[in-house]
Amino acid sequence: MTNVNTTRQNIGFSPIPDKDILDFEHIYGAHHYERLGLVVRKTEGIWLHTADGKKYLDCLAAYSAANQGHHHPAIVGALVDALQGGYASVISNVVYTDALGMFLKKLATLVPQMGPRFGDNGNKVLPKNGGVESVETAIKMARYYGYKVKDIPDGKQEIIVFQNNFHGRMITIVSFSTSPKYREGFGPLTPGFVSVPYGDIEAVKGAINDNTCGILVEPGQGEGGMYYPPEGFLGGLRDLSDQHDLFLLFDEIQVGLGRTGKMFCFEHENVIPDGIILGKAISGGLVPLSAFVTNTKMMDLAFQPGRDGSTFGGYPLACIAANAALDVLINDKLIENSARIGEYLKKKIDAIASRSTHIKEVRGRGLFIGIEVKNGNAMDYCRKLLDLGLLCNDSHGHTIRISPPLVLDEEGADYIAERLEKVLVD
Ligand SMILES: Cc1ncc(COP(=O)(O)O)c(C=O)c1O
Repeated sequence: MTNVNTTRQNIGFSPIPDKDILDFEHIYGAHHYERLGLVVRKTEGIWLHTADGKKYLDCLAAYSAANQGHHHPAIVGALVDALQGGYASVISNVVYTDALGMFLKKLATLVPQMGPRFGDNGNKVLPKNGGVESVETAIKMARYYGYKVKDIPDGKQEIIVFQNNFHGRMITIVSFSTSPKYREGFGPLTPGFVSVPYGDIEAVKGAINDNTCGILVEPGQGEGGMYYPPEGFLGGLRDLSDQHDLFLLFDEIQVGLGRTGKMFCFEHENVIPDGIILGKAISGGLVPLSAFVTNTKMMDLAFQPGRDGSTFGGYPLACIAANAALDVLINDKLIENSARIGEYLKKKIDAIASRSTHIKEVRGRGLFIGIEVKNGNAMDYCRKLLDLGLLCNDSHGHTIRISPPLVLDEEGADYIAERLEKVLVD
């Protein structure tokens, strides 16, 4: 095997020049992402490094997958041990592994009791790989609940979702996206979803009928423009779910696990759902893993052998990463740091907004901050920020997304604010 990491120029996985890497992607890859022209060779903490020795502060954190910072030593150490120790590979799901067992216990007990109306039964976890898979699992749960408990005829179940939602890219999920670009030409789409404006409790009330089995909501919309619903909205959804016996599902794939300054975003409003969907940072940004967590009684109702499954879902390497990644969030006090540094950074951004003619609104909690620009084209600003050593992108076209790893400190926040000032204040 050739060792390619021997010289300063050869930083990263290979000595192949950046230009060739761009060509490889253009020629051989699906063009499903609009990329910024940066080839990242190495990552560490909040930093992304390129072959020419430049570094960029990562203000995206892979859409919350790198909450613990890139290559956190405790997570890397756990993975290296697992690989070298011979207990990392995927094993047929007909046997038990200690890695999975320990992960299930850790996550089930970390999440507050889901669906307390079903009893104080504890939680159960169903692991998958990408976030979208766990959203589908949650949808299966709500539909089965409607069928089995509410006697809705199978095939007639309806779930209420929200405009500008983002829950992933598979067929069922894009079927209820309100972005035509996500759906066009991919039909036949999956029926059984009713979409209403985000934050509008009256519209939710109006959408409930005898076939409604559940509500699926992001407690903060990441891709939809970095919005939180108005205060009281999540509580209103809880009340409606109790009154009409609906399965209330929170998708916390992007806003959970410390991103907004609480372990779970729903803790800002103290509203407990019946099930929660987690992904991204659950395994520290090094291997994919996602999970659906619900009340034990409900999980046992919907998922018996043969009813669900995934070859890699919950395989040892991912579980070992997740065990370490969840510990890091707690041991390194990253939730507290997200709240504290988020507030520090938000104050600086608010001050910039007071001097800027470009900013329409600043929104955010913790290290989940959106800067909506007046011209509606956030990427104009993100390109300039990239030239200054800051990687950002847009959310919903109009908003600059500020969501760095939660290990950010004051110095990193100052670095971000200085660059925002240069680009947003004339
Ligand atoms: C709220 C939310 N749900 C679901 C997903 C889909 O997750 P994945 O891309 O891992 O399938 C995302 C991804 O950004 C997300 O932000």
